Amino acid sequence: MYRTTVLPNTSQQENSLPAATPKYTQPTFLMCPPTLFEVDYVINPWMAGNIHRSQRNRAMEQWIHLYRAISDVAEVELIEPQPGSPDMVFIAHAGLVLHGVVTLSSFFHRQRQMEEQHYRRWFLDHGFLVLDSRRETPFEGEGDALFSPEGKLLWAGHGVRSSDCSHRSLVQNFSVPLESLRLVDPRFYHLDTCFCPLVDGYLLYFPQAFDTDSLERIGKYYPEENRIAVSEQDAVHFACNSVNVGHTIILSEVSDELSGRLEQRGFRVVQVPLSEFLKSGGAAKCLSLRLSDLDVTHAQGLIEHRNA
Ligand code: ARG
Repeated sequence: MYRTTVLPNTSQQENSLPAATPKYTQPTFLMCPPTLFEVDYVINPWMAGNIHRSQRNRAMEQWIHLYRAISDVAEVELIEPQPGSPDMVFIAHAGLVLHGVVTLSSFFHRQRQMEEQHYRRWFLDHGFLVLDSRRETPFEGEGDALFSPEGKLLWAGHGVRSSDCSHRSLVQNFSVPLESLRLVDPRFYHLDTCFCPLVDGYLLYFPQAFDTDSLERIGKYYPEENRIAVSEQDAVHFACNSVNVGHTIILSEVSDELSGRLEQRGFRVVQVPLSEFLKSGGAAKCLSLRLSDLDVTHAQGLIEHRNA
């Protein structure tokens, strides 16, 4: 495990210090409408055979459904999609946010590197302290870096997209202990496709996506009764790619067996059809980026299920 007490490394910062970084007092996420979404190239196994096969109208309907489900429990801010960046809808990969500081992504694939400039602009315009990632050490934001719900530990994936060297900068930037996890199945190329820390000490995950050493480290933090392992069938429907806000879990369509297990543990499960985004290798979690701090995001009684 990496540990440090170093403060955010402001030397990487491109512009001068913002007067005040944003402080969200309600659970808040960023989303990007799928107006320009397209499967235009193949950079993961899900996209193969699906070039230009996603239907934009259906994608828009599904995204609006997800937008409403998230808006039920959180505020949602929007970033405008940009021509030439059809994967911008997967906004979770813009970077990793904590306390108004963002570590921006440096994408592994050239096809997504164009997105970086748009994300930098949005975060600067919204007052964030922006820290860059180096091109030589790819880092794909919340796709590969997930805080535990109380914010005390950062789980970071490597092996496909993000490099393990990028994890050192994360420790410096966020002053938080970090556990690196190695991904071994190309279908689960980002940590957020197979691993989702939940409130109350639970973990939703697909064990076969990790090497033995990583599974051991996961086991040290999560006793067996708190590990909710999903079947391969649910894993390939991106069950682990879920948005957790307090006791609500928003995810794509999963088996009754899995939603039952989650409900038994006290979660409200909201399923949203996301077939058009699965064709590009993504689902609920990667269509949103957490902006609010973790205590605010998970605090009970903030917005939790407005329509209850
Ligand atoms: N086409 C996008 C990519 O390959 C999809 C990203 C979905 N991300 C995820 N974590 N599932 O980068």
